[in-house]
Amino acid sequence: MKLGVLKESLTEETRVSITPDIVKKFVSEGYTCLVESQAGASSQFSDDDYRESGAEVKDHNSVISESDVLFQINPFNEDDFNQLKKGQVLISQMYHLSNPEYVKKLSEKGVTAFSLDAMPRITRAQDMDVLSSQNNLAGYKAVIVGANEITRIFPLMMTAAGTITPSKVLIFGVGVAGLQAIATAKRLGAVVEATDIRPETKEQTESLGGKFIYVEPDEGEVSEGGYAKEASEDYKRRQKEAVEASLFKADLVITTAMIPGRKAPVLISAEQVAKMKKGAVIIDLAGNTGGNCELSEPNATVVKHGVKIVGTTMAPYSVATNASDLFAKNIYNFVKLLATSKEGFKWDLEDEITDATLIIKEGEIRK
Ligand code: NAI
Repeated sequence: MKLGVLKESLTEETRVSITPDIVKKFVSEGYTCLVESQAGASSQFSDDDYRESGAEVKDHNSVISESDVLFQINPFNEDDFNQLKKGQVLISQMYHLSNPEYVKKLSEKGVTAFSLDAMPRITRAQDMDVLSSQNNLAGYKAVIVGANEITRIFPLMMTAAGTITPSKVLIFGVGVAGLQAIATAKRLGAVVEATDIRPETKEQTESLGGKFIYVEPDEGEVSEGGYAKEASEDYKRRQKEAVEASLFKADLVITTAMIPGRKAPVLISAEQVAKMKKGAVIIDLAGNTGGNCELSEPNATVVKHGVKIVGTTMAPYSVATNASDLFAKNIYNFVKLLATSKEGFKWDLEDEITDATLIIKEGEIRK
């Protein structure tokens, strides 16, 4: 099988789907790897690094036309659709639930497409889960960016000139990103509080040294398959009351709350921003899906009511070397699951992971 690695077409993207280390592994197992020239440049992997790992470095069109399987991080560029061949396999994030038009156009090419963001949240899939590997880095980076933006330091500091009290950090959403943000902010010496709709996150927050702001959950299941469901209006009101005291005292707020396939819940209203401390900073990681703060703007920094709101959707891009490294390992583990041998895929639709991620099978839309 010929595996093809394309340079990402989004201009702001800095990561690459397969690193030279993973090329080396594939090549040692008998696969041929074709890599588009400069694919790894922004992640600090040169064409020579890929060649030394055993890849053939080619131009964009050659990689598309010669590969049996194509890898990308982001959805494939529609400008390339005409070059795709029936029977080719595409592996990327597709965001198929919010991208039905894209899925339809791609299916018309007769290709097979797997979406990595549709990975089920089961233990066996953990090492293939790109959302986890990337959100973990995003949680770390959000704290670093936040620490840089606030006009205070994080830790308690006793000096001859007086004592500096620690900064207060508040985190909304204790998933993968939120947990890493709690751990990072604690390590830097801040006082950390967090809240989440899933009650099991109380213990997880406390085990990292954070204080959990508990909100009585809605009746019935609040999550499904590891993901939160949308909260009731009553929950939102109770959550607003429970967090306000902490929100108005926070120096840094990091929001990470998302609901798959839906707009992110608004957890901080414009009215609440107006009551926050002057100089406070909000890092909104949910910008891709509408943002958790009513006033945030995707990929822009705005100052409203004296509060700086950073609407970042690109946190993993700024740590592209590590992010690509983890992404590539996720893909490698996924290909190992799918492939019977270097000759082909086994299409085991009884396998929960294959079934969940296979969005288009030979031109037929399955999800
Ligand atoms: P996510 O990115 O979908 O959401 C982030 C967090 O926001 C979640 O913890 C969610 O409960 C919370 N949230 C959503 N709506 C909220 C609201 N209205 N108010 C407050 N919080 C709200 O989720 P993420 O981070 O990708 O994963 C969530 C959990 O799924 C993880 O903590 C883990 O337990 C599980 N998981 C399991 C995996 C596996 O077993 N393979 C892989 C990844 C995650």
